[in-house]
Amino acid sequence: MALLKIARMGTPVLAGVARPVTDPTAPDIARLVDDMRETLADSGGVGLAAPQVHVPLRLVIFHVPSNRTGEDEGAVPETVLINPVITPLGEERAEDWEGCLSLPGLTGRVSRFTHIRYEGLDLSGAPLSREARGFHARVVQHECDHLDGVLYPMRMSDMAEFGYVEEMRKALAPRRGEE
Ligand code: NI
Repeated sequence: MALLKIARMGTPVLAGVARPVTDPTAPDIARLVDDMRETLADSGGVGLAAPQVHVPLRLVIFHVPSNRTGEDEGAVPETVLINPVITPLGEERAEDWEGCLSLPGLTGRVSRFTHIRYEGLDLSGAPLSREARGFHARVVQHECDHLDGVLYPMRMSDMAEFGYVEEMRKALAPRRGEE
C-alpha cells in the first residue's frame, strides 16, 4: 500500500476521458484500489476517482458516512465502482456545496440530479447496480464526472458561489464536503 499523489486542477490527466477497465480482477487494479483507499482515508474525503491519482481508468471509490446521509438512506459502505454508467431517475435537481481533493481549499455550489441509478462492475468483476438519492447521488455524479474530464466548477451556474472554503464559510457558513 502506498499514499498516491493527488493531481490538482490544471493537470492534463484530470481533463481527459478515462479508458474503460478491461479486467477488474487484474492484480494491477487490486493494487490501485488498495492505494486509492489508503490515499482517500488519509485525505479525509468521501470519494476518489482514478484520474485524480494520475491513472486514466474508469474506476472510482467512495463511501457515504452516516452523518452525511439524508432521511431516506443509511450510510453507504466503501464502494469500488468500475466502468460506471449513471442514469438520472427523474428531472429533479438540487444545489449544494461541493469540494474536491483536486481543488484543495475551494468550494462551490453545484446542481446535481437528486435521484439516480448507477451501474458498473465491482472489484470481482460482478455487476453492481444501485439507486441513490441526495448526498449519495451527488458523490457518485461528482466522482464519475472525473472520468470524463469534468471538474465541479465546470458544472456551476453561478461563479459567485465559488471560492475558498475559509472565506466562504465566513460569508455563507457552507457545509463542507470534499470529494
Ligand atoms: Ni473531485
